[in-house]
Amino acid sequence: MSVFGVLTGGGDCPGLNAAIRAIVRGLDARGHEAVGIRTGWRGLVVPDVMPLTRRSVGGILPRGGTVLSTTGFDPFREEGGLDALLATTEKLGLQGVIAIGGEGTLGVAHRLHEQHAYHVVGVPKTIDNDLGGTDVTIGFDTAVHVCTEAIDRLHTTAESHQRVMVVEVMGRNTGWIAVASGVAGGADVILVPELPTPIEDAADHVLARNREGKTFSIVVVAEGYPLTRRSGEQAGPVLQGEDVYGYARLGGIGQVVADEITRMTGFETRVSVLGHVQRGGTPTSRDRFVATQLGLRAVELANEGVWGRMVGIHGNQVVDSSLAAATAERRAVPEELLEAIRLVA
Ligand code: F6P
Repeated sequence: MSVFGVLTGGGDCPGLNAAIRAIVRGLDARGHEAVGIRTGWRGLVVPDVMPLTRRSVGGILPRGGTVLSTTGFDPFREEGGLDALLATTEKLGLQGVIAIGGEGTLGVAHRLHEQHAYHVVGVPKTIDNDLGGTDVTIGFDTAVHVCTEAIDRLHTTAESHQRVMVVEVMGRNTGWIAVASGVAGGADVILVPELPTPIEDAADHVLARNREGKTFSIVVVAEGYPLTRRSGEQAGPVLQGEDVYGYARLGGIGQVVADEITRMTGFETRVSVLGHVQRGGTPTSRDRFVATQLGLRAVELANEGVWGRMVGIHGNQVVDSSLAAATAERRAVPEELLEAIRLVA
């Protein structure tokens, strides 16, 4: 019998509880114990931990958020953070930690493993779907589902009022949510950071639709889209501020795009910023399923003492890759996909 820690770090998303449940039950089935580390890596510094048992995780599967709470706390950026984290790990007798997180949380996991031979396995989560080493991250499917439903709803009101509806979705510096929900919701224009369509082309598309008798349009814009002009002139992404470590917080491009479209077409526009609604509420069945598969695979690795890896999904297979490779660079929407979706807009 060994004791393993489980934590969730960074932004929350639907499906985290499904992963926690799978990990706790997977460990239990192998005769191990689980300790819940609260508030991400911070919980190993403070410390802030709670017991997790097969029984106590009953009923959390369909719940959004995380029963462990979460923060983006980075022990490498906090005075005495690293030493405290290592000391708590030892004091609790943890054989290893299963860290469920995105770029930041798994970046810490990678550094801990590389620099301190820390026993850690990563599980990828983020609504942004931008991690390497996996085709899909926990939370993405639910976010896409929420956005698609919003686009469907906006269609009916756009049509009634003959307006252009601009929908701003999250995704940080990638356009996965915009592309997936825009395609699923039949958006007329999809603006993403990876291949930024000039705003004049977007306005022309709206005008062309109008000439064909379509007196409304839906424009989906990813929060990371930089306003781009045909001249090649490009503004930076619109920022709301920064987080405690100085990382940019994006938001506000929807209004900028709407103003430009009104100016260029003369049509009435309205903006909907979906915001944290995309991260809240009950996970889709797909997110619950993926979270369970990934959680169970993480337990297998921990049980075998295979550290410094991140579990993932490739095709229909559950795989694992090094944390180094998985966190090396942000996974952008591929160009061929962006080219292909132009054909259906
Ligand atoms: O990474 C997930 C995400 O929801 C991004 O899409 C978004 O830019 C950011 O987190 C928002 O962060 P916060 O919850 O700190 O406002």
